[in-house]
Amino acid sequence: METAKNNLREPIVCVLGHVDHGKTTLLDDIRGTTVAKKESGGITQKIGATDINKNLLEKIVKNTFRNVSIKIPGLLFIDTPGHVAFSNMRARGGALADIAILVIDINEGLMPQTIESIDILKKFKTPFIIAANKIDLIPYFISAKNKSFYEVFKIQRPEYREELDKRIYNIINQLYVHGISSDRYDRISDFTKTFAIVPVSAKLNIGIADILMVLTGLAQKFLENEIKFSDESTRGTVIEVKKEGSLGTTLDTILYQGILARGDTIALNTANGPQTTKVKAILVNSSNKGIMEKDKVSAAAGIRILITDKLDVTPGTSIIKILDNPEQAFEELTRESKPNINVSENGVTIKAEALGSLEAVAYELDQNNIKIREASIGDITKKDIINVSTLNDPLERIIIGFNVGISPDGREAMESSDIKVITGDVIYSLIEEASKWLSDKKH
Ligand code: GTP
Ligand code: NA
Ligand code: MG
Repeated sequence: METAKNNLREPIVCVLGHVDHGKTTLLDDIRGTTVAKKESGGITQKIGATDINKNLLEKIVKNTFRNVSIKIPGLLFIDTPGHVAFSNMRARGGALADIAILVIDINEGLMPQTIESIDILKKFKTPFIIAANKIDLIPYFISAKNKSFYEVFKIQRPEYREELDKRIYNIINQLYVHGISSDRYDRISDFTKTFAIVPVSAKLNIGIADILMVLTGLAQKFLENEIKFSDESTRGTVIEVKKEGSLGTTLDTILYQGILARGDTIALNTANGPQTTKVKAILVNSSNKGIMEKDKVSAAAGIRILITDKLDVTPGTSIIKILDNPEQAFEELTRESKPNINVSENGVTIKAEALGSLEAVAYELDQNNIKIREASIGDITKKDIINVSTLNDPLERIIIGFNVGISPDGREAMESSDIKVITGDVIYSLIEEASKWLSDKKH
């Protein structure tokens, strides 16, 4: 949140990966909390921001790696859920990130949402490191805790080292299949060509210094342009919208550029299109003082904004600070509310619950050379069914729905029609099923 004199802002670090691979526990280590244990069902349900200032970063890293010089003002971590149903939030997190940590359970290797996360990072060209977690579960482990990987590795027997390497090679091979060349971080000479794998145990707080050291190094080396602080314009992304009764509407927001102050006018997307409102209060979560109000904040920061108007704000919308005329911001917000998807004259029809996941489905279809005729947000309705029923090309008579339901009149229409409707909450299975259906139709 603080801005260094050299005018770099905190890089935003998104933590992504398959469910239960240890993302939240890893962040608990970094901030010294126990959030993961308190989550209902042990499942993260939303994006949360964690701010680590330069002092804390320095304290953790320099304990082991004395020669690292830290120029960034800190790191802003955002946690994301790994559960299949939350691909929308993974996509949103991926879009916000300057850099990312892909958490992989070293004993399980790549799983469906690991692969989905890789695709998101590739799509946004986000550099990332791999945290190979749960190294304490590898056979022959000599227990240790609250240490760097480097220190813990030194005390392990050859049998353990062999088992560890076996698992790392497995991950290296699996990543290679996805076009990623990787290696254990202490064996890498050129970080521009090879992705770093850092072995960690989030449970025992092992490897955190190593993770932060590699992240800091990457950010300082490769992100200098992305993380230049500028107060020419102020922007953020709304992660969650809450209507708090008499308090009005609050927006949990990641501020990624500029400065925001109480009283500022902001533009954002609502159910009724782009609108402006005013910032009534800014709340931040400080690790030692709890929730407190601030007059103004600088990027990057995770903040809660209380607005003066009762608006039906679209989760995921950008917020843009307005100085005079909102017209240009409105244009941008309108563009943003339309999916960034190439549609063709012929192709399949897709539906998804939100913009991010609609784009994720479109991206996967494109990777499989399947064209899209129409893409929109929301449940499958009667209108969707009727539209597709009127198409003559048998290859177009299909609707693919990701994380959506079918409205009652839609279901009725579907039952009396012969079009194909595929719904589900796992992108890979949906695409597979659609590909199979299309190739069967062709032959
Ligand atoms: P979602 O947010 O639901 O996707 O899960 P997550 O990736 O945040 O995983 P979480 O941190 O909730 O951890 C899942 C389970 O794995 C918990 O029971 C943790 O205690 C356990 N766990 C996490 N890291 C480690 C580790 O390094 N070693 C061991 N043995 N268990 C771990
Ligand atoms: Na979990
Ligand atoms: Mg979690």
